[in-house]
Amino acid sequence: MNVRAIVLAAGKGTRMKSGTAKVLHEVCGRPMLWYVLQALRAAGITEMIVVTNAELQGRIGEFGVAGVLQEEQLGTGHAVRTALDAMKPDETGRVLVACGDMPLVDAAIFSAVLSASDGRALALVTARVPLPSNFGRIVRRDDGVERIVEARDATAAELEIDEVNAGIYAFDETALREAVGHLRNDNAQKEFYLTDTVADLVRSGKRVIPVVTSDTVGVIGVNDRIELALARQELNRRLCAKHMLEGATIVDPQSTSLEPELKIGRDTVIYPNTSIARLSEIGERCAIGPNSRLSNARLGDEVTVRESSFFDSSAGDRTSIGPYARIRDDSRLAQDVRIGNFVEVKNSKLARGVKASHLTYLGDADIGEETNIGAGTITCNYDGKRKNKTVIGRDVMIGSNTSLIAPITIGDGALTGAGSVVTKDVPAGQRVAGNPAKPLPRK
Ligand code: UD1
Ligand code: CA
Repeated sequence: MNVRAIVLAAGKGTRMKSGTAKVLHEVCGRPMLWYVLQALRAAGITEMIVVTNAELQGRIGEFGVAGVLQEEQLGTGHAVRTALDAMKPDETGRVLVACGDMPLVDAAIFSAVLSASDGRALALVTARVPLPSNFGRIVRRDDGVERIVEARDATAAELEIDEVNAGIYAFDETALREAVGHLRNDNAQKEFYLTDTVADLVRSGKRVIPVVTSDTVGVIGVNDRIELALARQELNRRLCAKHMLEGATIVDPQSTSLEPELKIGRDTVIYPNTSIARLSEIGERCAIGPNSRLSNARLGDEVTVRESSFFDSSAGDRTSIGPYARIRDDSRLAQDVRIGNFVEVKNSKLARGVKASHLTYLGDADIGEETNIGAGTITCNYDGKRKNKTVIGRDVMIGSNTSLIAPITIGDGALTGAGSVVTKDVPAGQRVAGNPAKPLPRK
């Protein structure tokens, strides 16, 4: 079966009351559209075209799919026509139509509707939902669908129908091209409704097959920010469930925020009020949280991150961070590093066994193995014009409250006294103290 998908995503999204296109609103760190495209790919569909508005068209490259601009949003039927006009006709092809505002949709539903459409003009997904509902209503004849009526055009009796249109369709391409050509916009919204193709096909003697899904949550279309929050809650619940089933302990899923595409190793424990984002990879037996934010974090095994933020950085096995630390901007912490409270590490490399336990700023620094950074140490990396580098060797003792005026190099095994202001490089083994720091006599 030759299948191409059309994803409808040009809608104004009026009910979001937003300056951003609806399908670009994020759920668990990804735009809604991303989830729909993932599900289509998971169903084995490789050819797809997204119907876009101007804003989305400008960003469609991010999604790795083709977009076609629908200049005026004249309705879902008009959107499909716009896509068909941009597609080379395939007389024997199938066209799967889905909406870009269904972030919870599952690949299985696409596969189901496609196989039900085999040899038919149209199969579409329906669901039984509690009323009232804004979904279009399915008017049945016998075991087929006779027509779909939009909630805004429905009579009181039709509004009582609790079988609704999920907005997922598998069409015979030739039948679709013909039916779309017949659409009119004489309805409450003055739009060309894709849903009117159903009555058109039935009139021409075709049968429209309903595929009733029990996955009523999966077919939720997000139209406003209340539904956006509901979708996020459900998706986050699923993400937490996935990682728990794979061996991570999540103490309180409700206050834990996850995203797709994370790696969390076995026996890692996530404590409450913690969010993990952007392709983070966490090893085994780690302890993360409470009250922590990780984004694009790469952690080895047995790493601890307590009440801290950890962005765009990595840490090796057994390294411990926090409480109240901030690690950011491509910092690379090796194994057995200890970062204590009120320590900020920015764009720095800390070798195995480095300790900075209290009240410290390490920016643009490169620190050797087993070096101890005393409380209150500051790398003075900014001279008002540019950021300068601090290089500290191995087995160095930086005394409490040392200021290191970068660019500067402190040699292996050196020592700075408490309160030193170090303005010049210190050779290996040298001990310095004072402001400005001067060499101390050798012991
Ligand atoms: C639509 C269906 C309704 C169904 C519901 C399921 C129609 C007329 N109604 O209603 O029967 O129950 O979806 O969620 O199809 N879009 C465009 N261009 C347009 C208009 C819309 O691309 O000109 C896109 C939107 O971005 C959206 C999708 O089509 O992703 C659906 O549009 P929306 O306005 O949300 O339709 P509903 O009112 O939800
Ligand atoms: Ca919708």
